[in-house]
Amino acid sequence: MRVLAISGSLRAASTNTTLLKAAAALAPEDLSLNVFRGLDDLPHFNPDLDNGPPHAAVAEFRLQLAESAGVIFSTPEYAHGIPGTLKNALDWVVASGELYEKPVALFSASPRAGYAQASLVETLTVMAARMVPEACIVAPLLGKNLDEHGVISEANLSRAIRSALRIRRAVNRGSCNEARPRSSRRRAESGRAKREHRPCGQGVNRLHNSFHCYIPPPSMCCDAPS
Ligand SMILES: Cc1cc2nc3c(=O)[nH]c(=O)nc-3n(C[C@H](O)[C@H](O)[C@H](O)COP(=O)(O)O)c2cc1C
Repeated sequence: MRVLAISGSLRAASTNTTLLKAAAALAPEDLSLNVFRGLDDLPHFNPDLDNGPPHAAVAEFRLQLAESAGVIFSTPEYAHGIPGTLKNALDWVVASGELYEKPVALFSASPRAGYAQASLVETLTVMAARMVPEACIVAPLLGKNLDEHGVISEANLSRAIRSALRIRRAVNRGSCNEARPRSSRRRAESGRAKREHRPCGQGVNRLHNSFHCYIPPPSMCCDAPS
């Protein structure tokens, strides 16, 4: 099973990218976790450019999403939001629908990124992605200066990451790999998507004590933790 991991940070020493690389290394044999590298190749989103054949980088991004059974995001917070590069990438797939009903998990390398997490949940929800709360973690890497091997060697961190890779089970639960062109844009534009989501848990989901993730309130959520 393929899962795409997308870091919202372009920094060479990004803690969020490190977290995703560690997850890729810890993934079980039947889970191929690919860290996406093309975020900064994407042109600025412009709906006028979204009518003809897509830019090569956009086509590649859409293909990688379409071929993945699930997606893990890990993003820093910039000025109480998600980085523009990540929002830009998401804008490119609103209309093409690759995230429609796709299971998605949020990782975070900082416990202070609550605004960014909430904003990302809001965007993914209106795009009709399927949040998987039990696969979300916050692994506090800020200031620790660890590479992926250092993350893996910390037992608590690697245990939490392995646990979050339960996104696999959520993928197996539903049929979620089908891109539905244009439909998620219509849903987003009409505002119906949010109202149609089934509610899930509220507040904070605690995993292994210090690792927890932001779980949206019922109105923003589309899957209940089992
Ligand atoms: C332009 C800018 C704005 C930032 N704004 C916030 C913020 O609003 N809240 C926050 O907690 N951290 C903020 N930070 C800190 C980053 O989110 C933090 O350093 C992050 O963990 C870096 O992630 P990375 O190591 O994956 O690049 C900001 C950093 C930059 C460069």
